[in-house]
Amino acid sequence: MSRLIQKAISEHNLTRSELIELLYDDSCAEELFSAADEVRRQYVGDEIHLRALIEFSNICRNNCCYCGLRRDNKNIERYRIDESAIFKLAEHAAKNMGLKTIVLQSGEDMFFTTEILCNIIRQIKTLDVALTLSVGEKSLEEYQAYRQAGANRFLLRIETTDKDLYLRHDPGMSWEQRVQCLRDLRTAGLEVGSGCLVGLPEQKVESYADDILFFKKIDADMIGIGPFIPHPDTPLKNASGGTLNMALKVMALTRLLLPDINIPATTAMESLAPNGQRKALQSGANVIMPNVTLTTYRKHYELYPGKSTTGYTPDDSLRKVKELITSIGRKIGQGYGASKHFKR
Ligand code: 5AD
Ligand code: SF4
Repeated sequence: MSRLIQKAISEHNLTRSELIELLYDDSCAEELFSAADEVRRQYVGDEIHLRALIEFSNICRNNCCYCGLRRDNKNIERYRIDESAIFKLAEHAAKNMGLKTIVLQSGEDMFFTTEILCNIIRQIKTLDVALTLSVGEKSLEEYQAYRQAGANRFLLRIETTDKDLYLRHDPGMSWEQRVQCLRDLRTAGLEVGSGCLVGLPEQKVESYADDILFFKKIDADMIGIGPFIPHPDTPLKNASGGTLNMALKVMALTRLLLPDINIPATTAMESLAPNGQRKALQSGANVIMPNVTLTTYRKHYELYPGKSTTGYTPDDSLRKVKELITSIGRKIGQGYGASKHFKR
């Protein structure tokens, strides 16, 4: 076995240059995936935790160049699911589908004030579920209010640790502000999820090493990694996009260096290549997020084209995920599936 992979398995540490060496060396990819699979098994076991993903608004004030929901994209139909309909989706997921975590995701839609969002959180928390939010950059006070209302976790990808690249692709946003948000989430007592894109134009292999070291530095509880998939209605429409192989390598190295965190097999992996999520679950991932948004809405939540979940009903999505888990001999998570890394 490669000396570096051996080191990663035993020490859960690699230097920047060691990470870079592994990221460049394609001959070791399969070995890296099996090492991450083994470390996943040792630290977080064979259970795969399911999360019910509700994409409740595709309205966004930001203009990220890679994203189909960016505010300048006039070619999508915008929607906003109202409070009672969000609750009904969550109720269906909890009561009929037996899911123990609800994830509320949206663009940065200013309609959902702290007061409205906290009301929704409080209602959903009556369902005996863990609640994850993914609603973008807010103040410390807002994150604290979500926590007080009962939210448990929060997802905010750093997208890339290459500051120049971030500024070019996320016009009007501040990289430092994003890092501050990640600190604030921790202060507020939420489980902190972050992650990155792989394959943005001019994104360097070296910067993936920095991304992985950044995840360690911020002491992340969850990390989601997805290949960038160019969207035709964005400035990056002609870009070539990321590859599944590189996204899986970044993910596998993340598992080796942060052995006890939660790592989802992301939808973008499946959308890019058939069996992408299966491969991810066998290369370090231990979470999957069946989409429970109604078919009528989910087709408009087009972060990127060809989203693998488009066209399915909530029940279809759950069935497919369960089939996948059984087919690879793993178990469906029974509890809330909090990150083993998270210390209150
Ligand atoms: N391809 C892949 N992932 C994307 N995201 C946004 N646009 C794209 C795209 N074109 C990801 C971002 C964001 C998450 C919700 O979706 O990383 O954090
Ligand atoms: Fe908005 Fe998020 Fe898309 Fe950026 S990535 S435009 S913040 S939905």
